[in-house]
Amino acid sequence: MLRRTTIPACWIGSVVKLEKKAEIRVDREPVEMAPDLLLDVRNLGLTFPSGLKAVNDISLTVSPGETLGVVGESGSGKTTMGRCLLRVYDAQEGVINFRRADGSVVDVRTAQGEDLRSVRREIRMIFQDPVGSLNPRKTVADIIAEPLKLARLAKGKELDERVAALMEQVGLDPAWRERYPHAFSGGQRQRIGSARAIAVKPRLIIADEATSALDVSLRSQMLDLMMKLQDEMGLSYIFISP
Ligand SMILES: Nc1ncnc2c1ncn2[C@@H]1O[C@H](COP(=O)(O)OP(=O)(O)OP(=O)(O)O)[C@@H](O)[C@H]1O
Ligand SMILES: [Mg+2]
Repeated sequence: MLRRTTIPACWIGSVVKLEKKAEIRVDREPVEMAPDLLLDVRNLGLTFPSGLKAVNDISLTVSPGETLGVVGESGSGKTTMGRCLLRVYDAQEGVINFRRADGSVVDVRTAQGEDLRSVRREIRMIFQDPVGSLNPRKTVADIIAEPLKLARLAKGKELDERVAALMEQVGLDPAWRERYPHAFSGGQRQRIGSARAIAVKPRLIIADEATSALDVSLRSQMLDLMMKLQDEMGLSYIFISP
């Protein structure tokens, strides 16, 4: 199974395969999260208004610092599942237990208010399509600063310093902060997107490779950066691969 994917096998803790057809249902266990887990998804289900059941009874777990691979053919619901975990979509069924930095557990599927806001800081997305995901009318500094401003984590001089530190962390020269995304190469734009994703110190990052038509060297640079950030920040990844 792993041979078909683009993820280096040595990096992946385990792999979940999504199937288009309904899987055999496992017995539902009581929803109590093991203390050593970061994320515990049970029996997740999402049906679109069209009636299509795009996510069908998915269960998976992620430990702190682990990289989980998610594979499956086109249309098997990988991207939709990722969007449920980020609460872009509201799944109708299941539990998405997430352990926050303070140790408390939140069900992301039903979280509201400050619980939901905190989860949105701790679970972020890295887009593999750096062109489509960066606002062309904003400077790199503004793009990276935006999540910090939204979360009211920094302002003024402190914000400027955080942006510069983030640029350095992802291998970008802070002197380029006032440039616009079009002035950067594809690989550099991915670094901008990564800096934006880690700005609010998340603990879980979802990387969806769906739209990537990256050449091999760009892809391996991106993986190197993701592994470096994992080491530095203790990140967990859910790595979605065609
Ligand atoms: N917003 C939406 N409304 C209705 N149907 C959708 C929506 N988004 C996706 N779908 C359908 O849900 C199913 C799962 O799509 P999804 O994009 O999650 O698959 P995927 O596994 O990510 O595929 P790929 O490998 O091509 O990226 C597909 O049949 C798709 O057409
Ligand atoms: Mg997809």
